[in-house]
Amino acid sequence: MTQPYPDHIRLGPGEDSVILLDQTQLPNRLEERQVRSLAEMIEAIRSLRVRGAPAIGIFAGYCLYALSRQLEARGWKGPALLAELEGLGAALAGARPTAVNLSWAVDRMLRAARGSAGEHMSEALGRECRAIHQEDQDMCHKISEYGLSLLQSGDGVLTHCNAGPLATSRYGTALGPILLAQERGISLRVFADETRPLLQGARLTAWELQQAGVDVTLICDNMASIVMKNGWVQACFVGCDRVAANGDTANKIGTSGVAILARHYGVPFYVLGPTSTIDLSCPDGDHIPIEERDGEEIRSLWYREPMAPSGVKCYNPAFDITPHTLISAIITERGICRPPYSLSLPALFSPPQGE
Ligand code: MRU
Repeated sequence: MTQPYPDHIRLGPGEDSVILLDQTQLPNRLEERQVRSLAEMIEAIRSLRVRGAPAIGIFAGYCLYALSRQLEARGWKGPALLAELEGLGAALAGARPTAVNLSWAVDRMLRAARGSAGEHMSEALGRECRAIHQEDQDMCHKISEYGLSLLQSGDGVLTHCNAGPLATSRYGTALGPILLAQERGISLRVFADETRPLLQGARLTAWELQQAGVDVTLICDNMASIVMKNGWVQACFVGCDRVAANGDTANKIGTSGVAILARHYGVPFYVLGPTSTIDLSCPDGDHIPIEERDGEEIRSLWYREPMAPSGVKCYNPAFDITPHTLISAIITERGICRPPYSLSLPALFSPPQGE
């Protein structure tokens, strides 16, 4: 399996803490962190030590389970324990607003806790967080197969941000077809946008693909146009943080710009993600909350010295919306959705005919 760091999110010894690979240290240091308190867990999500829509959902699942073990060890049980877990779940779900997978996983965990009659609540939570993790691996594998069916040997693929194993469980979503192709000896050429301001493309995507032996070329965000103009890109593959009912998609800031360029140059633009990222209760992109982050990330974060005048005003949205009209297809573990998305997305959730 072409994954440099499997199990980058897992339970700590005794299952009352969670261990994560600190993604802020990559690619320079492989450093793990153990988080035990709610404050440490929220800090890990907010500071992007753990990041990527599916990964923060998986992490939140393990966190709620670990917290429930701590509470039970201190004698909490029954309705008081459930009420406490609901409060902790709300705090975790509020750590980042855009990726719907976070609140989706917390809701799923709390449903399991409510249904845990006749056993320790933590037992039900333990089963559920492991199921969320396992299901993500299965979904990523299926998404990778569907995505690969859209590519041919020798194709160039441009990607933005990081939607690889580090952002999920295994394979990833947008990087999944590329890693699967590599395993099968199908050669692809990948262009990875560096993805300002936090450089997930440079630090994480380039690292994951290089470790897997994929032919990857790192480019600055403002170079995507010339790479497409040169005819080097046959498809754009990106992940997603929330897909609205009409197909409008939130993903890392700059994704919509890539989609606009792709339309200009006639390159298909594909969004890849699990159905847990589709939010049918959200009518369109205007209703997706966009996280706004500290301007210091633009002014200085990755340099020893400031790289902009001290105190200069910054606007630092972490995500943007790609209009559904620019998306060629949305690839999920249940199949490939084509426009009109207002029909093809809900159909993913309907039982097959005859049932
Ligand atoms: O701010 P980040 O690094 O969490 O943003 C991540 C992305 O935008 C990913 O593309 C998205 O979460 C999909 S991950 C499979």
